[in-house]
Amino acid sequence: MGEQMMSNRVTVSAVLLGTCLFAAGLVQAKDKRVWSPLETDGIHDPDAPGLELLQWPDEALRAMLPDHPGIGNQVDWLRATSAGQLRPVDALYEVTRVRQRDKDIVMGRTGEMAMVRFPHGSHSREMDCDNCHDQFFVAKAGANHANMFSILAGENCGRCHGAVAFPLTECRRCHTDERGGGTVPGVQAGQGRQYDPVVTR
Ligand code: HEC
Ligand code: HEC
Ligand code: HEC
Repeated sequence: MGEQMMSNRVTVSAVLLGTCLFAAGLVQAKDKRVWSPLETDGIHDPDAPGLELLQWPDEALRAMLPDHPGIGNQVDWLRATSAGQLRPVDALYEVTRVRQRDKDIVMGRTGEMAMVRFPHGSHSREMDCDNCHDQFFVAKAGANHANMFSILAGENCGRCHGAVAFPLTECRRCHTDERGGGTVPGVQAGQGRQYDPVVTR
């Protein structure tokens, strides 16, 4: 009886520990991501003589924190960067001024959808302001008129999302702030990631 209780307790704490590790993203469920070989990925020339010198996606990407299978190259680049799995250089030249901005902008012209929270923080850790200002966006809250038609046509956010950043079918990654939840459109403190990251699959 005592032994039974003891082993129950051991099982329970093992389960608890497992759950905590899971929640912390340290233990991954079986990784189901599959990457096409370079010669059939539709990007590389299958006849290129240098192909065999390149690192294989499976080898390069498997170790990185996952995004959903089927989303881009299935790596959560922002989370992989904050976890130190890759350390992009900020600039090639010392004279380059590295700029960072952390304010979010809540964009409210979303009809019945939840409002869009544009995070300057995540974007300016990945790229300089010049990538967006002022060619794609005027640096003034509310001054840009985006809608899903223009975005799907590759304008505004659609310059990158659906091309090199997560696809436009991920509505909830942009449309995060429910109307009536107390958030008002405009410049706000940066809140960090607003959707659940993929920890297991
Ligand atoms: C990359 C970010 C992003 C994603 C992903 C995204 N949207 Fe939007 N959406 C926006 C922005 C930005 C606006 C314009 C907000 C503004 O100007 O105030 C907008 C506007 C809208 C509007 C109101 C304007 C219009 O075009 O009717 C609707 C409705 C909408 N989105 C629905 C969706 C749905 C449904 C999805 C998923 C299929 C989606 N959005 C995915 C960023 C996004
Ligand atoms: C990925 C694109 C992108 C990048 C990179 C970016 N911004 Fe913005 N910025 C936006 C968008 C989108 C808005 C909001 C436009 C709107 O509400 O119509 C904005 C608005 C602004 C505004 C006006 C609102 C406010 O916060 O006062 C300023 C100022 C600004 N950006 C400065 C910067 C600076 C400085 C950097 C670099 C550190 C930067 N931005 C990088 C897209 C970007
Ligand atoms: C110049 C390219 C570019 C433009 C323009 C751009 N983004 Fe992004 N965005 C990225 C990249 C790169 C990432 C990081 C990779 C990823 O998550 O796919 C990202 C990530 C995000 C994230 C996830 C942030 C996080 O911390 O998880 C959101 C939300 C987002 N973008 C919304 C928007 C909205 C809304 C717009 C338009 C108002 C926009 N982006 C315009 C390149 C861009």
